Amino acid sequence: MALPVRFDYQNLMQAAVGTDGLSPADLDLKAGAAAVAAFRRRVDAGDIGFPNLPADRKTAAAITRFADELRPRIDDVLLVGIGGSALGAYALDVALRGPHPLQSLAAPNKKSSNGKARSGVRPRLVVLDNVDPGPLVAALEQLNPKRTAVCVIAKSGSTAETMATFLIVREWMTAALGQRAHGQIIAITDAQKGDLLSIAKQEQYPLFFVPGNVGGRFSVLTPVGLVPAALIGLDIGKLLKGAREATARCWSSRIDENQALAAALVHCAMNARGKRSEVVFAYSSYLWGAAFWYRQLWAESLGKTHDREGRKVETGQTPIAALGVTDQHSQLQLYVEGPRDKMITFWDVERPRVELTIPKALGEFESCGYLGGKKLSRLLRAERAATEAALTRAGRPNCRWTLARLDEAVIGAFFQTLEFQTAFAGELLGIDAFDQPGVELGKKLTYGLMGRRGYSEWAKGVKL
Ligand code: PA5
Repeated sequence: MALPVRFDYQNLMQAAVGTDGLSPADLDLKAGAAAVAAFRRRVDAGDIGFPNLPADRKTAAAITRFADELRPRIDDVLLVGIGGSALGAYALDVALRGPHPLQSLAAPNKKSSNGKARSGVRPRLVVLDNVDPGPLVAALEQLNPKRTAVCVIAKSGSTAETMATFLIVREWMTAALGQRAHGQIIAITDAQKGDLLSIAKQEQYPLFFVPGNVGGRFSVLTPVGLVPAALIGLDIGKLLKGAREATARCWSSRIDENQALAAALVHCAMNARGKRSEVVFAYSSYLWGAAFWYRQLWAESLGKTHDREGRKVETGQTPIAALGVTDQHSQLQLYVEGPRDKMITFWDVERPRVELTIPKALGEFESCGYLGGKKLSRLLRAERAATEAALTRAGRPNCRWTLARLDEAVIGAFFQTLEFQTAFAGELLGIDAFDQPGVELGKKLTYGLMGRRGYSEWAKGVKL
């Protein structure tokens, strides 16, 4: 049976693209097997937790019970969080319910009626990650606090953007609901430390925890992603089932069995050959959120100054999100003819969520006649195949992830596989894929600039 998620890298090889491609000798299979073993040791030692998340049925069951109880009383889920505390839930929502831009509500459901309950309609998700006041004001204007659940998510419990937005949203909720608001504000944070934990306990918010050994960008299958997902009505059991099946495949040390390992090896080999950027060309608007989620995963995990021995390496591959077909008409020219510093990764979906047939009309016109009666999704896939062929003919290395369809199980498997790919790439590059000192520095500078006690030294000499 064909796997629900498949990786094809033949267009990265010299046989397909010539000198810019890889030779079989470039794939260091011994290093790959060693990377799997080394990563396994870190997981078995309890240092890294994401591979074990899909096995945690208990947490998933508790979240499902909680969400099933709250969902009938809400129309909207307001997610207050940023980076790894926001992008996973957004990616799930877009992949499984349909495209909408970050920081804006999915299209209003036809059944909605200003401020009143919308029976039988699954809640929408709006993500408040940025601190630009405009989208925040616009979102709050559209929402009914009485029928909104707020998920405030911060592993550190103190990120400035999240805490500022939380204070605004908390005030908005309590102005409408008083103390009752506290039952609709759900906090997701570290179990041991941080102000958000203390606030949640003080105000008696429902609380869920991020395991200490799971970092933000690897946390989509913790309550960080699962609570919002369950509240908007996604089947998190199926999400975890898909991820469990993928996890089993990701522990093989053979690249014909372990796609995450194959992908890590070819990405690192490409990086070593000067392909310093990876363009993720998602040929489905449903995968646009996932492209943003992956961009953070790949960039923050692999962009590092030093390796684990302390040597200066300044490594990492810059991920660029592109949307097919839209960006064929904006970026593709550069990718086909510009600098040879990129590899392209296509994300393709075999079975579309929605199908549409192009009307058979105006057939006497050349530009219309050949299209009439054909499925629109066939055009989308033809465009992807054409773009792949154009790049390959131009000697530009490209590879492809194919998803059989867009459902919870497939998305769970895909996200988990990409997390393993990232972990293996970290091992192959000899860097720690699980820290983010550059991000932490920015946070400290912001605290200093905003006058947080204990941080003034950090911002010395920095002007607002
Ligand atoms: O991946 C990471 O660790 C970061 O991107 C964090 O998710 C991000 O900085 C938000 O941190 P927090 O959840 O502590 O607010």
